[in-house]
Amino acid sequence: MNSQQIKALDAAYVLPTYARFDLCLIEGSGCRGKDPEGNSYLDFASGIGVNSLGWADPQWAAAVAAQAGKLQHVSNLYYTQPGAQLAETLCQRTGMDKAFFANSGAEANEGAIKAARKYSHDKYGDGRHVIVALENSFHGRTVATLSATGQDAFHQHFHPFLPGFVHVPAEDIAALEAALTAEVCAVMLEPIQGEGGVVPLDSAYLAQVQALCKAKDILLIADEVQTGVGRTGAFLASQKVNLQPDIVTLAKGVGGGLPLGAVLLAKSCAHALGKGDHATTFGANPVCCAGALVVMERLDDAFLAAVNDKGALFKKELAALPHVADVSGDGLMLGVRFEDGVSAGDVLNAAMARGLLCLLAKDRLRLLPPLVITEAEITEGIGILRTVLEEIK
Ligand SMILES: Cc1ncc(COP(=O)(O)O)c(C=O)c1O
Repeated sequence: MNSQQIKALDAAYVLPTYARFDLCLIEGSGCRGKDPEGNSYLDFASGIGVNSLGWADPQWAAAVAAQAGKLQHVSNLYYTQPGAQLAETLCQRTGMDKAFFANSGAEANEGAIKAARKYSHDKYGDGRHVIVALENSFHGRTVATLSATGQDAFHQHFHPFLPGFVHVPAEDIAALEAALTAEVCAVMLEPIQGEGGVVPLDSAYLAQVQALCKAKDILLIADEVQTGVGRTGAFLASQKVNLQPDIVTLAKGVGGGLPLGAVLLAKSCAHALGKGDHATTFGANPVCCAGALVVMERLDDAFLAAVNDKGALFKKELAALPHVADVSGDGLMLGVRFEDGVSAGDVLNAAMARGLLCLLAKDRLRLLPPLVITEAEITEGIGILRTVLEEIK
């Protein structure tokens, strides 16, 4: 099928919930994808921070194919090796005690909310169930995770939301302290707010949040769905800022392109969820876990150091482009704000027309390239952005 035929079929039968860009992709390799007409695209988006090893990484694809040819699904009624091994690796890489596998970021956050409420209920009884989240946060599109999300733009049309969620402004420790009443069981935050516009939280603020939570036995949930699995140059963004959450959620990059999420619980609260408390049919799917095990193997210390180095180069080169007001983020999670009336959406569209795929987050151009991107590919994409920005006004 050509692009026109694919788009027509999609328009006829797919519910139009996505504002798609005008592009079909049919194959890819590393950081380059192709449309049906053979046009090539350099990838600064990685499927919104998912394809950590790029498209069709040979080692990843071989492991996924081998697992699919052996045992694709058994349900959680039985044990399988890839899930058990992945849980071990994730716990070892993060210092957490136990893992629960979900299928997406929203589902991982649902699991975290349930774990926090159960922990509190077991210990303190009824009435200590409130989750405090931050304004401008994003935690997913299910009803509970939308209730946790602190952006009104996502709340239209879907009221009423769940009770038991309170929002406070980020970086305002007094507001948080005031919100931590006797009804609160957890604070939930993203170390860098992704959908909120690539907004990093200050490490001193995060340390204060952690101290407040510890003092009141309130669990700290780090939503690392976007920042985790090497994206910022550490396995977790929390590790870079010395944050020790009680619960960490992962998704996006963990499966390297297959749907997989994880809730990681510290020893202090790992006992909260026991038999029958939480479940999902596809959780720990062996094929997804086999792909994730390759991601884990590749993300060694040298790989993470390279993400840091490439991120620093990327940030410096972006900051030197025309019309750039500032560059936020860390590692390979970057947000570019423009000045002089230049719109990030216009930059994205012009870059796509020149063969470069980027993302948006609020008023910023957001860049989440595959973690395997090379310096030469970063420089090539920067060159496209420079041409676009020189032509734009
Ligand atoms: C921080 C964060 N949490 C949760 C989610 C939801 O993940 P998913 O779309 O896999 O449900 C996202 C998605 O963008 C995210 O960035």
